[in-house]
Amino acid sequence: MIAHYYNPVHSVYGAGALSSLPALVRGRKAALVIFPEARGLGLLARIESLLGAQLACVIDRVRPNPDVAELGATYDAFWRDHGDAEVIIAVGGGSAIDTAKALMVADERAQFADLVAGLAGEQAFAPTRFKQLIAVPTTAGTGSEVTPWATIWDRERHKKHSLQLPQTWPSHALIDPELMLSLPASVTLQSGLDALSHALESIWNVNANPVSDEFAVAAVRDVFEVLPQLMAQLGSVELRGRMALAALKAGMAFSNTKTALAHSISYEMTLRYGVPHGIACSFSLPMVLQRAIGRRADRDAVLRQALGVDLQDGPRHLAEFIEGLGVKTRFADYGVGDDEAQQMVLHAQDGARGKNFIGTLETTS
Ligand SMILES: NC(=O)c1ccc[n+]([C@@H]2O[C@H](COP(=O)([O-])OP(=O)(O)OC[C@H]3O[C@@H](n4cnc5c(N)ncnc54)[C@H](O)[C@@H]3O)[C@@H](O)[C@H]2O)c1
Ligand SMILES: [Zn+2]
Repeated sequence: MIAHYYNPVHSVYGAGALSSLPALVRGRKAALVIFPEARGLGLLARIESLLGAQLACVIDRVRPNPDVAELGATYDAFWRDHGDAEVIIAVGGGSAIDTAKALMVADERAQFADLVAGLAGEQAFAPTRFKQLIAVPTTAGTGSEVTPWATIWDRERHKKHSLQLPQTWPSHALIDPELMLSLPASVTLQSGLDALSHALESIWNVNANPVSDEFAVAAVRDVFEVLPQLMAQLGSVELRGRMALAALKAGMAFSNTKTALAHSISYEMTLRYGVPHGIACSFSLPMVLQRAIGRRADRDAVLRQALGVDLQDGPRHLAEFIEGLGVKTRFADYGVGDDEAQQMVLHAQDGARGKNFIGTLETTS
């Protein structure tokens, strides 16, 4: 088997990595997309002082789960007023980085409506204008700093869009665990479980390859070891750093495979029940693992390596880990009845990400 692995992102990792920002911007005009709490935390002022006159504009009204309803005005104003900025710097969690990915591409008209119509498959979107993206994650979870895709929500139409273009890879990921120290316990947990989900989803995935497997196995083992310790010591830079590295490895893994059934299920759970992404994509992992086991011997072997237990004990072991962190693992715990849950899983299997699941391939063939 010949495997291909591709990831063009230049990663800079370590406490204090943020200070590399001016060297990466290299005097060019930059726009900053940053999470709203950064102002009160003094982080915005720090970046303003690092970049000085290179910083052309600041967009800090980034709401969790970027939605077409809010992004439109930001996008149109950005391209109208700051279309000459060469670089976008995204500082924040997946919501800030994905917002920046939506901003970084435009066609000649630079109208958000064109981008959304493209995402919805209503008309072709052929961008001709691009910004460079430097992604600075402040959560340890989404891996968006090393993937080309962005999740754009449309709550009104009950849809989740995925933006993915060859141009939406970040050029750089600056991973500085010091920026994660202010992250509340709830988001630390959610984003940590998101990373676990990315790693496992890249293993039970039809697109898995030996390189993505290496990253995924290491990420699962790291999350098992580090996340419980981190939840007990949120102020530890060392543990923040190890969790950031775990999330980076998980991001490197799924940057080549995309996600699978647990994420496909999560979109409905977020849209219908408002469950945060990291919980929505991880509560079902034991159930999805149960469905993955026995489908393919090579996947079983990698799952065994990642989980470090006999596979027959895997789902129970995984459920105990997740429940041990205070997250329930059954649909009923979220108010979803058996029939609705069954429908949701069937629907999720048919989704683009669901089709990546090895279990879906086997059951539908
Ligand atoms: N593009 C991808 O590959 C990808 C992968 C997974 C998830 N996502 C998307 O990412 C989003 C979730 O991202 P997330 O889990 O990183 O959370 P988030 O970006 O939504 O942030 C959660 C909350 O924490 C705040 N916050 C972020 N960093 C902080 C810090 N250092 N200190 C204090 N507060 C901070 C934010 O302002 C927000 O209120 C979802 O929309 C999800 O769909 C994208
Ligand atoms: Zn995710």
